[in-house]
Amino acid sequence: MNEAVICRSVVKNFGTGENEVKVLRGVDFDVHYGEMTFLVGPSGCGKTTLLSVIAGLLNATAGDLRVLGTDLAHLRNGKAVEFRRKNLGFVFQQFNLLPALTAAENAAIPLLAAGWNRRKAVDKAVTILEDLGLGHRVAAKPNQLSGGQQQRVAFARALIHEPRLVVCDEPTSALDADTGHHVMDLLRRIAVRPDRAVLVVTHDSRIFPFADRIAHMNDGLITNIEKNNEGELEHVA
Ligand SMILES: Nc1ncnc2c1ncn2[C@@H]1O[C@H](COP(=O)(O)OP(=O)(O)OP(=O)(O)O)[C@@H](O)[C@H]1O
Ligand SMILES: [Mg+2]
Repeated sequence: MNEAVICRSVVKNFGTGENEVKVLRGVDFDVHYGEMTFLVGPSGCGKTTLLSVIAGLLNATAGDLRVLGTDLAHLRNGKAVEFRRKNLGFVFQQFNLLPALTAAENAAIPLLAAGWNRRKAVDKAVTILEDLGLGHRVAAKPNQLSGGQQQRVAFARALIHEPRLVVCDEPTSALDADTGHHVMDLLRRIAVRPDRAVLVVTHDSRIFPFADRIAHMNDGLITNIEKNNEGELEHVA
């Protein structure tokens, strides 16, 4: 199987009755192993909602979803949490760093949760933070870091446990062009492998060249998909 994520007719509604909002209106969408897939579309079209459903943070109202060969909806609660912790890495629109922990400790969280020795976990976090140009700030707390620095700590945390699926929501929003390129380069090196995949929601056209596939979303539906053939975008669906 070469799909890391399979969505079929995925529906997500918020609220009920008069207050019901239909946000995902029957999404068909795949993320292929060995690829970096971008999800693009206007503000409010449902990108974060789709990402949250794929990451198991929201339950779909209807439809079928398989992530890394697993139907998350049918895993019992504790199992779903364990599955996510082991196999998924996230970079959210809000970075969700823990204020009392240093940059290195924040980045090390997935390893600590997996039972790693603290020293080894923090050492690995420092190595990744160095690679992200933050070697001089590993001991800083989040409130002592700039937005772009916090975003890179969130990146390190998403990648440190070498998850099979990394999902990122606007991962370069707080970064200048050079840092954005560097971060995408690192993401490609670490997270794109024959048995791994990356899904990125972005408005940032500067990083479009990093995409293997670009899915366009509008008003709760995937409207078209392009494949990147050595810089030439080819319409595929
Ligand atoms: N918990 C919620 N309850 C009700 N409506 C919601 C909820 N979460 C999102 N929505 C609505 O769903 C729609 C899609 O939101 P979503 O956050 O997925 O958009 P988006 O494509 O990520 O936009 P942006 O590019 O601005 O981040 C919006 O109209 C939003 O108001
Ligand atoms: Mg969003």
